[in-house]
Amino acid sequence: MTHKIDWDDAYRQQQAPAWNIGAPQPEYAALIARPDTVRDDVLDAGCGHAELSLALAARGHTVVGIDLSPTAVAAATAAAAERGLTTATFAAADITALTGYDGRFSTIFDSGLLHALPDELRENYLRAMYRAAAPDATFYILAFGAGAFGDHAGPGPTQFTEEQIRETVSAVWQVDEVRPAPLFATIEQMPGFLVTAHK
Ligand SMILES: C[S@@+](CC[C@H](N)C(=O)[O-])C[C@H]1O[C@@H](n2cnc3c(N)ncnc32)[C@H](O)[C@@H]1O
Repeated sequence: MTHKIDWDDAYRQQQAPAWNIGAPQPEYAALIARPDTVRDDVLDAGCGHAELSLALAARGHTVVGIDLSPTAVAAATAAAAERGLTTATFAAADITALTGYDGRFSTIFDSGLLHALPDELRENYLRAMYRAAAPDATFYILAFGAGAFGDHAGPGPTQFTEEQIRETVSAVWQVDEVRPAPLFATIEQMPGFLVTAHK
């Protein structure tokens, strides 16, 4: 289902968007705390307020956060300055057509972006990430699983079955693993998958 959102508007509201939990998704917080899972440079694709980028920079990683929303990028830039994190930089851009970073990133994180993209942009996105990836890059994708929103049938993020997400990512990347993983919002926890793939 095509899903269109005014992302910058979501970040201009008084109330923070539901996906802003003020910390990296717990699945990623655990992953980046393990030795040897993150190799620089790192890309945080669709970073939003970028708690993941900021946590990576706090661990000494060089990270670039990219988001379509200039408001989110400004907030992330300000948070990095406030926390004295000099190895995190941010840019506003459409990541599905990303250029200027070819071959640069050894680790790419997607924290809730793939499931937020309209169907027709998914493959462009996966290809753009492939272009931006170093030859031995690892790509992590955390995305909603089927049933994440119960019986709600209206427009919303894509809810993937395991087979669908494997097939989607495999169109461009070599998928190593797909395993169930929860995603958290400010109000609840929803089922999803963690995909690990390599170039
Ligand atoms: C569900 S939010 C997740 C934000 C963040 N990764 C997090 O975990 O809090 C999806 C993010 O993707 C961004 N986004 C959507 N489409 C995009 C695009 N084409 N290029 C770059 N960012 C995009 C949105 O602005 C939003 O910040």
